[in-house]
Amino acid sequence: MSGKYLVTGGAGYVGSVVAQHLIEAGHEVVVLDNLSTGFRAGVPADARFIEGDIRDAAKWLDASYDGVLHFAAFSQVGESVTRPEKYWDNNVGGTMALLGAMREAGVRRLVFSSTAATYGEPEQVPIMETAPTRPTSPYGASKLAVDHMITGEATAHGLGAVSLRYFNVAGAYGHHGERHDPESHLIPLVLQVAQGRREAISVYGDDYPTPDGTCVRDYIHVADLADAHLLALKAAVPGEHLICNLGNGEGFSVREVVETVRRVTGHPIPEVVAPRRGGDPAVLVASAAAAREKLGWNPSRADLAGIVADAWEFAQQRAEQAN
Ligand SMILES: NC(=O)c1ccc[n+]([C@@H]2O[C@H](COP(=O)([O-])OP(=O)(O)OC[C@H]3O[C@@H](n4cnc5c(N)ncnc54)[C@H](O)[C@@H]3O)[C@@H](O)[C@H]2O)c1
Repeated sequence: MSGKYLVTGGAGYVGSVVAQHLIEAGHEVVVLDNLSTGFRAGVPADARFIEGDIRDAAKWLDASYDGVLHFAAFSQVGESVTRPEKYWDNNVGGTMALLGAMREAGVRRLVFSSTAATYGEPEQVPIMETAPTRPTSPYGASKLAVDHMITGEATAHGLGAVSLRYFNVAGAYGHHGERHDPESHLIPLVLQVAQGRREAISVYGDDYPTPDGTCVRDYIHVADLADAHLLALKAAVPGEHLICNLGNGEGFSVREVVETVRRVTGHPIPEVVAPRRGGDPAVLVASAAAAREKLGWNPSRADLAGIVADAWEFAQQRAEQAN
């Protein structure tokens, strides 16, 4: 059945892809975004766009909405260490205002972008949802605080909510792809080297206890992630807060990613080994068992070369537009 959904942060990377999927599934989409890190051009053509802040969501939310998909947040781990107040204010304060507006309007269904950063250094991999949550950055702590807020809202006021804890989102979907500024994610950074926009890729540490010494991460295609959001909307039950990891359950090392980019782009990609960064766990891989079992999610684009190829096509499109 089609519905009407508010997508906060729908001018950003993940939000724009999910908004596009919702539209393709026949839903009506309203994007609310203050363009602090997003781009007007990222908003799908068939969505209505409100340039505004989630703190003012009460101005626009009313009972005509069937639910909210909440992507709007700041998400730079390093910046959150130097400016934690910015993260508490936007991610926690902003979400508190949004939850209040939803309560007032009687909108009782929510899907929230949580993160693997809520777990911190894992004791065991793959990481299950029952693992201890000990975030190592204010960013991760702010997202964990929101998860707790949502649990309270579900218990006390009957919200039906699903938090999806993403691992490393990558790839692109048509005209919607990753364009963070500054960019901190590995695949778009390596693609910048392939495009000649960056001389070499820095590999932070090659002495980790992993097969090739570099960090291992779980990359999930943004379109698979979008599928999970549509399933999560169906799985949201009033009074319950479900938390699911989203990853492929398979890890790739930094060197494997760089090698894949070499193969896909045909560019040599010089590497520079740099010291380890504080707070980078050796291995972060999700257990996706809960998402499969509770949402019925079945990722179909897990192949790393395919993920890189889609991101490369998007990066090339953008380079052509800039010329
Ligand atoms: N990209 C990843 O790998 C990843 C991994 C884990 C979790 N997440 C989470 O997913 C969500 C989306 O990430 P992304 O990579 O698309 O980030 P992004 O920066 O591309 O998108 C975030 C969007 O939210 C908007 N926004 C921020 N604060 C706002 C506010 N107060 N009011 C209105 N709009 C606001 C920004 O303008 C931007 O368009 C974030 O919540 C992030 O924490 C992303």
